[in-house]
Amino acid sequence: MRIYSPGNQADREILFLQEVGSTNDYARKLFQKGCAAGTVVVARRQIGGRGRRGRSWSSPEGGLWFSLILPCRPEDSSVHKVPLIISLSVAQAVEERCGVKTELKWPNDVLIGGKKIAGILIERGTRDTGEEALLVGIGINVNLEQEVLQREGIQEVATSLDIVTGREEDLYALLLSVLDKIEENLHNLYYNQGDLLGKVTPRMSILGQMVAVQLEGDTIYGRASGLTQEGALVIQAGKRTRTLYSGDVVSLRLREDS
Ligand code: ATP
Ligand code: BTN
Repeated sequence: MRIYSPGNQADREILFLQEVGSTNDYARKLFQKGCAAGTVVVARRQIGGRGRRGRSWSSPEGGLWFSLILPCRPEDSSVHKVPLIISLSVAQAVEERCGVKTELKWPNDVLIGGKKIAGILIERGTRDTGEEALLVGIGINVNLEQEVLQREGIQEVATSLDIVTGREEDLYALLLSVLDKIEENLHNLYYNQGDLLGKVTPRMSILGQMVAVQLEGDTIYGRASGLTQEGALVIQAGKRTRTLYSGDVVSLRLREDS
């Protein structure tokens, strides 16, 4: 199965929008109308940007807000690896282009100095024919000044590349770098069974730490002890070992007393 065909920039269909509700919703409609897998939708700003579980995602001008359509087979358990592959790709592109060190927060965030620099929202799209796709939404805080984060009310949890490096980044160049990394990592770590955990584990700041994981109707306290080959998080809660998939998790926080 191929979920994103490698190719040069000219093969990529990238649609640029001035303003949209959410690029994930736009990508969903494009997919329903039959557009090709691999298509990318980018917006200068989103007025209804979404995070996981319907949380709102601030998307003012200056950030990189986009969605990529990837074909998928929902029954394929490898699909659980996709959030990790995407967050790894974002981290690598940001590090290479901007020269800053990032951390990954399972399952789908990229952090710098403990604050969120990027978030990833992966949803499913369906066509009348029954074909399915993953709608991979990526938001990166690129050229956002501190006052903008304050105005958006996210200054406590978020930072931006501009704030960290002190210089503006070319949004288009960063977009192409992220797409290149996604392509390369899907090829090596998804189809060719490369060592995903070897790449991801050293960047995953919560491993070894005590965490509180909120599930629907339950909260687990324990040590984040590792990741499975499928990309699930293993929590050691007393004598019990729990294996969690990203879709099950409402919230994951470090425990204050860890
Ligand atoms: P957890 O409880 O697991 O830490 P979270 O609060 O990080 O989860 P997510 O769904 O991963 O929740 O992200 C959504 C949250 O991100 C929003 O509730 C908001 O606080 C924050 N947020 C919104 N816009 C941005 C942005 N542009 N950059 C960084 N963070 C943002
Ligand atoms: C999260 O951390 O909860 C995920 C945030 C994902 C934000 C991106 S921005 C592009 C795409 N469109 C959306 O509405 N959300 C994603």
